Amino acid sequence: MTREFSCALRALIAALALTGAFPPGAFAADTKNDIDRVTHGEDIPAAVPPMGWDPWNAFRTNVDENKFLSVAGAMIDQGMADVGYKYIIVEDGWWEERTAEGDLRINTNIFPSARTNSGQTSFSPFVNRLHALGLKVGIYTDIGRNACSQFWDANSPNLPVGSMSAREVGSFGYQKEDARLFFSKWHFDYIKVDACGIADYGPDSSGVKSGLFRPFGPLIIRGDPSSSNIKSVAQLYYEFSRATREATAGKAPVFEICAWGEAQVADWAYRYSNVWRTSEDITPSWKSMLHNFDTAAPRTLFAGPGHWNDPDLLEVGNGEFDGRHLTEARAHMSLWAIIAAPLIISYDISTPQPALADIVTNREMITIDQDPAGNQGAILSLDDCSEVIAKSLAPRGTKAVAMINRENRSCTLALRMEDLHINPSEEIRIRDVWKHTTNALRNGKLEITLAAHETALFTIQGTPLSENGYFLDEMPAKIAVISDDHERPAQPAPTEWVPARIGYLPTGQPIFIDGKRDVSAIGIASGYHLRIALNKRFRRFRSIAEMADRSDSRTASTFSVYGDGKLLYRRKGEKRLLIDVAVEGVQSLELVARSSKSGLIENFVWGDPEVIR
Ligand code: GLA
Repeated sequence: MTREFSCALRALIAALALTGAFPPGAFAADTKNDIDRVTHGEDIPAAVPPMGWDPWNAFRTNVDENKFLSVAGAMIDQGMADVGYKYIIVEDGWWEERTAEGDLRINTNIFPSARTNSGQTSFSPFVNRLHALGLKVGIYTDIGRNACSQFWDANSPNLPVGSMSAREVGSFGYQKEDARLFFSKWHFDYIKVDACGIADYGPDSSGVKSGLFRPFGPLIIRGDPSSSNIKSVAQLYYEFSRATREATAGKAPVFEICAWGEAQVADWAYRYSNVWRTSEDITPSWKSMLHNFDTAAPRTLFAGPGHWNDPDLLEVGNGEFDGRHLTEARAHMSLWAIIAAPLIISYDISTPQPALADIVTNREMITIDQDPAGNQGAILSLDDCSEVIAKSLAPRGTKAVAMINRENRSCTLALRMEDLHINPSEEIRIRDVWKHTTNALRNGKLEITLAAHETALFTIQGTPLSENGYFLDEMPAKIAVISDDHERPAQPAPTEWVPARIGYLPTGQPIFIDGKRDVSAIGIASGYHLRIALNKRFRRFRSIAEMADRSDSRTASTFSVYGDGKLLYRRKGEKRLLIDVAVEGVQSLELVARSSKSGLIENFVWGDPEVIR
């Protein structure tokens, strides 16, 4: 499609949308291949965030079969498998070569069990052995022709060998063949698909210039989404994820996109994958841990069963989170759990460290991460010292809260029960997940002082403020953020920008309505709309809707509400609207806000959005 034609088409779609001739379902014309979380059944891959072990942070490519097997034994002996750590991921470093026939060969020096009598290599004996222990196994590849290690770990002993084409072990051009090998033949359960092959092998790359590698793209320009070829990146991952699903007879494998938050992957990856990285690689420092966390934490509306933001592997057990830093180790686990992140430990567990094992196997912490409702916690407050995040758990009136001291000094934090939609005058019980204590809360306000880097993780049980009313921030897993053109917003967005957020505008400013902080509001940018799975369970939808910047009188806005594609409500031109609309029998509700100005990103607020039973 030419650029002009695609722009004209977009303008036409926008015009039709404004006249009401085009229900929002139609925006999804090119989403027919979406993994639609709204209609998914229970039996989906990664219905809860995956848990397991990955060697990367402990060993990089310096792995061998014995290390994997002793880790597998340790996962069982130290009770990790029992509490849910099931996936063992075979990382970068396993290949020997791609043969002239296109088959992948395993490095049998490090995986001796892969030798077979036929001369071919096979992971089946290794995978079967781990399966027999009740574990699941993940494999690693690259979406391009070459792997990360070939560029970033050039001195690794475990790099592919042979001619230039023999060293092209990535799955580009071999997606169907590799998917069949990994899943129909070897029966892996998980795949991590890295992206160095489409990022680091451009014509100017040192490896390409020195004649070692064939040039590719690059399709991803690190740190520069507007120069990256987002559409091609998404297309490659979509095709590979489809190939993996087609290659498996039973339950599809967990599909992870490891594109480090580049190419705006965190905005579109939920359509094609179960887990996507939101940032560059974590390192074992407090600063890096917080940085990675911050790339995933505001993306509450993108997560849900089968679809998880991933701030990367855990660094618990390493560097500033090792056995001498248990406060930091607990904080790190709490942060990942409160945002329903995958819990993939990555330290050498084959040497037992009971204090660390106690932390990673804390069942109450894991229950928060693995809650079946699949809500990612939403940020209630963030200041120069602290952060408070709340996650609605499946039982009504039950919340998990992380109160985080981000700084290297002590810090006092407060939380109002009203902000959790809990009635402050009824009985409230507060369970401290790390201290294992339960207390009653008397005055509706929780105030605590935390030591440097300390996080308190609580489960709070109370009575909902309203018996029949559910605020949308209590059910983020039921909400999808849909991009209207499925490519990118009209203007290239900075990396820290999030198209739709709870309690904040996409730019990160907290939302206030009439001077009062609205922690439940949803801030959303033009070019995106919200789709909410109501599943015929509610009678009414209510919200105070407005444009975020109301100072510009030349811009008018239109707010529309659709139920299963049918227009239920529309008002144009007014600055603020009190919306109260019947939604009886509605399966899928869509909230669409538009401005009269095209081409510019405007922000809209759905204030106090609530559905009533
Ligand atoms: C990239 C990924 C890491 C790891 C390495 C392996 O850097 O982001 O998680 O898989 O590649 O080389």
